[in-house]
Amino acid sequence: MSLQLGDVVPDFTAESTDGTINFHDYLGDGWGILFSHPRDFTPVCTTELGEVARLKGEFDKRNTKVVGLSVDPVDSHKGWVSDIKDATGNELNFPLLGDPDHKVADLYGMIHPNASDTMTVRSVFIVGPDKKLKLEITYPASTGRNFQEILRVLDSLQLSAQYSVATPVNWKDGEDVIIAPAVSDEDAKEKFPKGFRSVKPYLRYTPQPNR
Ligand code: BEZ
Repeated sequence: MSLQLGDVVPDFTAESTDGTINFHDYLGDGWGILFSHPRDFTPVCTTELGEVARLKGEFDKRNTKVVGLSVDPVDSHKGWVSDIKDATGNELNFPLLGDPDHKVADLYGMIHPNASDTMTVRSVFIVGPDKKLKLEITYPASTGRNFQEILRVLDSLQLSAQYSVATPVNWKDGEDVIIAPAVSDEDAKEKFPKGFRSVKPYLRYTPQPNR
């Protein structure tokens, strides 16, 4: 059965451009993102890896380690890394796993045989400090991911892990959030001292609590 939200994500040891990595140990007490790429020396992946390298500081601010995976061997990745720098201006500054025997890809269900027998799809797994899966999204090989959206989801996940809130449609960091339905109005007065407004009894907005 495929990995589902709330499952502890599979641990593994694999080679990467930064040496051997044990995934759970590498994440430590923080958050993690594991994202897959179909193959080395491919155009869309090149733009994605350059962009994640550019955004590394944003992931660091969110106590989140990013780990890429491409099914080619690490020796091949090492040649690609200089192309990524040439093409995007960004030096790879996070580990890129090699997975020539598809060990990690199979553990995480990153190969969708009806799309391709050999290449991974573009998967994104966000893992919480408890090593549980908080989000999974899957894109086809032909569509580059939007890493601003990944940061936005991470902000929402981290906020709802800390406060009894959820985030509304198209929410962005700094905007009002929704008080969880399980919180009574009475409790909401205490938990959210900035106040709240009720649009419906079940739809109550409050300013983002950590701002
Ligand atoms: C790419 O990264 O550009 C790509 C990889 C596999 C299939 C199509 C595009």
